[in-house]
Amino acid sequence: MEINLKIFRYLPNTGNKPHFDKYIMEVNPNDRVLDVLEQVRADSDPSLAYRRSCAHGVCGSDAMRINGRNMLACKVLVKDLGTSDITVEPILGLTVLRDLIVDMDPFFEHFRSVQPFFINNEPLPADGKERLQSPEARERFDDTTKCILCAACTTSCPSFWSNGSYVGPAAIVNAHRFIYDSRDTGAAERLGILNESMGVWRCRTAFNCTEACPRDIQITKAIAEVKQSIQTGKLD
Ligand code: SF4
Ligand code: F3S
Ligand code: FES
Repeated sequence: MEINLKIFRYLPNTGNKPHFDKYIMEVNPNDRVLDVLEQVRADSDPSLAYRRSCAHGVCGSDAMRINGRNMLACKVLVKDLGTSDITVEPILGLTVLRDLIVDMDPFFEHFRSVQPFFINNEPLPADGKERLQSPEARERFDDTTKCILCAACTTSCPSFWSNGSYVGPAAIVNAHRFIYDSRDTGAAERLGILNESMGVWRCRTAFNCTEACPRDIQITKAIAEVKQSIQTGKLD
């Protein structure tokens, strides 16, 4: 099929303003948008810059705005866009470094701020082996373990667009993963961090994050659970 492709281009320090490059291309409907970008680089312009690594929806490096919605370029097929007009732009709310590449540092600073790691300084069980957990207790936080840190959620959130200091849904998801882990003892500290002015209360339940997540994580639900735990002091 023939497509009309528009790609956002920006190369700082060249004097060129941000603009769109346009291509009319023949592609296979089963091609992914990532394949189309690779085709542009191979056939037309090797200077086109974007991040990619695994090409199979695992590493989270190729989140971008495709026809106005955040998606992983390696997960979306051209035929599933339902149109031959395809516009590819960088995700919003983070500084564009070049073309489709944004500065992810603020995103990862927010991620680190919620202590997204296992905390338990208590002695190991007497047999010295493992901290056991029931299947039900493991299920409690299963959904939020699936995050691949692609930033599609945070960069689709209107609260984050209006204030880049908002910790954002991705950080809350990764806090949730540990707050509800029965083996972890850092929940109170994390809930305190998320109760601060740039924490969960900035969420206005817009749901964009949940709709954007390529891992189908119920992000808005996870945020609501964290809000409830802050209010009640309970983790159930
Ligand atoms: Fe990406 Fe989903 Fe994780 Fe957000 S919660 S960073 S959209 S995988
Ligand atoms: Fe933003 Fe998601 Fe809340 S889009 S406002 S974090 S429900
Ligand atoms: Fe790894 Fe798309 S390239 S998720």
